[in-house]
Amino acid sequence: MHLKKLIAGNWKMNKTAGDGLALAKDVVAAVGKQNEVDVVICPPFTALESVGRAVEGSVVRLGAQNMHPEAQGAFTGEVSAPMLRALFVTHVILGHSERRSLFGETDAAVNHKVLAAFKNQLKPILCVGESLAEREAGSTLKVVQTQTERALEGVGADQAASLIIAYEPVWAIGTGKVATADQAQEVHAFIRGLLVKILGEPAAQRVRILYGGSMKPSNAAELLSQKDIDGGLIGGAALEARSFVELVKAAAAVK
Ligand code: PGA
Repeated sequence: MHLKKLIAGNWKMNKTAGDGLALAKDVVAAVGKQNEVDVVICPPFTALESVGRAVEGSVVRLGAQNMHPEAQGAFTGEVSAPMLRALFVTHVILGHSERRSLFGETDAAVNHKVLAAFKNQLKPILCVGESLAEREAGSTLKVVQTQTERALEGVGADQAASLIIAYEPVWAIGTGKVATADQAQEVHAFIRGLLVKILGEPAAQRVRILYGGSMKPSNAAELLSQKDIDGGLIGGAALEARSFVELVKAAAAVK
């Protein structure tokens, strides 16, 4: 099945509300009305409102970078799914490797968030991926399997069309070291196989699996033309409209 490609920008802890507004306006202007590729931008919480205004009425969708699984309560510093929905957020990145390694997020916590996202009609962009030590030890597929299976406990086949997985090898994030197309495709095909086991065959073919980790205009075409690579989750190259939009164009050019 040929899935519509998705290019998502993860701004991480960059851009104030004002800077984000300017960048989002540039992205919207350059992306125009093309409908071949789904485009999502994920600013920090503090820029969601201004970026939301910039993308309103355009094809660009709004994503958050994290959320708390509960709807409300005594969770100082946290933001819930209904709060995101009220700002017209449609997607949420969950289980990013920086959340896992720097903030101690466990597979169980990621699973709660994934379930809460679905309950609130948010599309999760679930991140999985191995560290350099894990790759060198030959445990890449095992790590990816555990993260994927645990995060998707309780997720049903009917949610597949709204589920997005991002394979992000930790050693490639922000390092300029990109996985080769073969390395990435191998893991993407493996994830597709896991999804067949978890969700069944037709549903597994509906899940978009993005590649993330130093994707940029110079390496995007090769990665995006792999059979099981359905788009990209972009960090550094999403911080400038020109490179981000080039990635959208690269995705549109893949047949
Ligand atoms: P990068 O980040 O494109 O800067 O490597 C990707 C990510 O962390 O999502």
